[in-house]
Amino acid sequence: MNLSNNTILITGGGSGIGLALAKEFILLNNRVIICGRNLEKLKNAKQKFPSIEIIQCDVSDENSVETLVQEIQEKYPNLNFLINNAGIMKMWNIQHETTNTQEQKAEILINFFGTVQLTQSLIPHLLKQKNSTILNVSSALAFVPMSATPIYNATKAALHSYSISIRQQLQNTNIKVVELMPAAIETDMAIEMEKSLGIENNSPKMTPKKLAMLTLKGLKNDIFEIRPGMANTLYIVHRMFPSLAEKMIANQSKKMLLRL
Ligand SMILES: NC(=O)c1ccc[n+]([C@@H]2O[C@H](COP(=O)([O-])OP(=O)(O)OC[C@H]3O[C@@H](n4cnc5c(N)ncnc54)[C@H](OP(=O)(O)O)[C@@H]3O)[C@@H](O)[C@H]2O)c1
Repeated sequence: MNLSNNTILITGGGSGIGLALAKEFILLNNRVIICGRNLEKLKNAKQKFPSIEIIQCDVSDENSVETLVQEIQEKYPNLNFLINNAGIMKMWNIQHETTNTQEQKAEILINFFGTVQLTQSLIPHLLKQKNSTILNVSSALAFVPMSATPIYNATKAALHSYSISIRQQLQNTNIKVVELMPAAIETDMAIEMEKSLGIENNSPKMTPKKLAMLTLKGLKNDIFEIRPGMANTLYIVHRMFPSLAEKMIANQSKKMLLRL
């Protein structure tokens, strides 16, 4: 795909992977709009990159997504690239009586249904453009789950399956569907989780910048499933020796479960 002159919406673009992608796309002369719940986070991003445009939105709230879609259609008629990146990751010990099913539901809405609603609502708009792309950010945990984060893994597996289905449905259209499946990345999500358990550096992590560069390379080369670094290693091991891949992740998860 052409990496310049696109109009791009990045959900969860105020930090981490989303912000790293936003930065690289700005440098390549794209118009970039980011959204997220926390307005301060979005304003900080705009301070760093003044050309970035910000919209407050909670992808787990149907009304908020409807308002976002309306604003996009009115203000950004050339939008041709949707990056579904917003997400949260929570650890759950399902044997604890305090396990909160409302919070588990929220995790599903943010990580999966938010993407489904936003994508579905923007398809008519994307179909009108000359070339469009949908990039869904799932995870290597979509194919090998980490037991400490059962809901997260399931949402990413759902997103993986959804990405394959919509790619097939849209194959004869102007819309390309790409999936980015990172392994551990050095962002608030991964760092805060390890910190909360007192197990900093539980796993080696790629920087968001490196991930963004590899994502751009994958997009440029029309790779439809981008698995950077360890994610691809895990994918190959999983294809050849599924139980070995499960063991690799289970070892990382063990320390977490002991602390939950
Ligand atoms: N870091 C990793 O190791 C890793 C590995 C594989 C995949 N991923 C995936 O990469 C994506 C980005 O994560 P990250 O690592 O960059 O973590 P991050 O820095 O915590 O970024 C997540 C972003 O999502 C936004 N967000 C969360 N809930 C939202 C909601 N309801 N509506 C709109 N925005 C929401 C957050 O902003 P607000 O809080 O302001 O809403 C935040 O900017 C996620 O989908 C994650 O699952 C991460």
